[in-house]
Formats: sequence, structure tokens, C-alpha cells
Amino acid sequence: MMKEEEIVDRIRELKEKRKAIILAHNYQIGEVQDVADFVGDSLQLSQKAAQIREAEVIVFCGVHFMAETAAILSPNKTILIPDIKAGCPMADMITSSELIEWKKRYPGRRAVCYVNTTAEVKAECDVCCTSSNALKVVDSVDGDEVLFAPDKNLAAYVARFTEKKIIPWDGYCYVHHRILLRHLKEKKRLYPKAEVWAHPECRPEVIDLSDKVLSTGKMIIEARKTEKKEIIVATETGIIYRMKKENPDKSFYPAKDMALCANMKKINLRKVLRSLEEMIYKIEVPYEISQKARGAIEKMIKIKGGKR
Ligand code: 13P
Ligand code: SF4
Repeated sequence: MMKEEEIVDRIRELKEKRKAIILAHNYQIGEVQDVADFVGDSLQLSQKAAQIREAEVIVFCGVHFMAETAAILSPNKTILIPDIKAGCPMADMITSSELIEWKKRYPGRRAVCYVNTTAEVKAECDVCCTSSNALKVVDSVDGDEVLFAPDKNLAAYVARFTEKKIIPWDGYCYVHHRILLRHLKEKKRLYPKAEVWAHPECRPEVIDLSDKVLSTGKMIIEARKTEKKEIIVATETGIIYRMKKENPDKSFYPAKDMALCANMKKINLRKVLRSLEEMIYKIEVPYEISQKARGAIEKMIKIKGGKR
């Protein structure tokens, strides 16, 4: 059995040999974040995938839709995901045929899709958004009414700030949706001086009790900037690894101890190594779908992150 340092050394060797770069989402386990060339939120990772020139291979440590987005934006590179079963249950809550039918029921409305969707769904929407630019994207589309899929919680959050009427799809992230008000109240009781930061995939009542609502990327930035010494974080707990590592003088507490995304946690160092050794699992998106989806993603990237 190889030791952790040996695995890391072997990953580094293979990275050079394959001209590979490793991207990791903020929810990945610590050892995977540590071996990555870049760690970020969904928007930052898709921007990075679009910008990378020097690599021929991207090992994407995240969930399937993120690797697919990288494949769409970097069609000349080989995109690998270390575990093919690392999907996002929320992304599977709407199919492309359901989106097409939904759009027919609301003619003339633009459809904004969260990046947490399959490439087929992206191909049928007008523009994508992430948690860090959803309001800006919604405000940028034509019309007073907008279809928003699949996350009803993110939709409800954006609806607080836009003048447009948002028609939400009934999807949600099970990890964030299961962070309940009682979990947060209990943590506030334990840490009365702490500020509360929530991800916009959280339920409205959790958002109401939060001081700041931030994407994972913006949480990382805010963790460096804040003068606060204690923060309760209402999101997947994997992010706390990086927050603590970068800010050892501050304390970060999860709003719910077991807020874990089982799919994000499927990837580990051994799987990253195997991925580079065997060049698995390749993510490929059919050309026609990729072209259509790319339009919706690039429109979003041009809009850039907003305040919320
Ligand atoms: P961020 O875009 O804030 O990283 O959140 C995405 C998410 O929930 C990934 O599953
Ligand atoms: Fe999907 Fe939620 Fe996991 Fe993110 S945390 S990958 S939205 S299930």
C-alpha cells in the first residue's frame, strides 16, 4: 500500500508527463485540495478551464456537471473526472425534455439555468448562472418574467433583489436543503459572537438568519478579509478545511455538522492517481450539445460575478 506522500509524488510526476493540471472544487477533501493547482467555486473553475493554455489534460476534482463544463469550454483538452459516479443530484432534477416542455408553457420567457445542470439542459437554456452571479444574470436577460432552474432556493434568494418575476423549477440541493433553522439556531446558541454566512442554496429561513450570503468562492475571500474571529458557515463542510488552513487565527463552525455532499467526497488521492495513470474517466460532450451549451456558459462568463 502506497503512503500518502508517495501518492502525491507519483501524481506530480504523472502530471508533468501528461501535461495535466488539477482543478478542485472548494468542497473536495483536504488532501485533494492540497494536490490541486487551483481550488475554487463553480464560476472560478469554469473561468479557469476556459483560460488554461499550457495543459493538455484537466483532472477535474468535483462533480460531473463541472467536468462537463470544462469539457465544453476546453474542447481540445482531455477532461478526466477521477470518479465517474460523482454526479450532482440537483443537476438530475431537470432533464432537457422537461426544460423544453416548461419553456413551451411559458412562451417568450428567457430560461436561466444554474450551472448545476447537465450539458443537455444547458444546451436548451438561454444563459447559465452560478451562485456568485445569479442576480446579475437574471437582471441581464430580456423580459419581466424569467424561468429559473433547477434550484428553487437560489431562485428565491435572487427574487429578493430583482424586479423581475422569477418562475422557479422545483429542484434543490439536498445538502443545503437539509441545513435546518434548528441546526443554525443551536450553533448560534453555542457561538453567540459568531457571524453567520450562508450559501444561497440554503432554505429562505436559514438565509433570513444569516449575516452574509455568499458563493463558496466569495466565502473564501471574505474569510481572509473579515475582522470577525468566529464564523458559522451554512454550506457543505468541506469548505472549512481551506478556511481554517488560510486563516488559522479564526474559527469556522459548520451550521450543521454533517452537511456533507456524498458525491463531492467520492474523490480521493488514490482515485486522482488512478485517473492520471489510466487516463480515466474521460468526459466528452457530443459536438452539437457542446456548441449550444457553450453559448449559454460563455454568455454567463462575459457577465462576470456580481455583488450577490
Ligand atoms: P459554488 O458555485 O458556490 O461553488 O457552489 C456550487 C455548489 O453547490 C457545488 O455543488
Ligand atoms: Fe450538487 Fe449540492 Fe453536492 Fe453541490 S453540494 S454537488 S449542489 S448535491
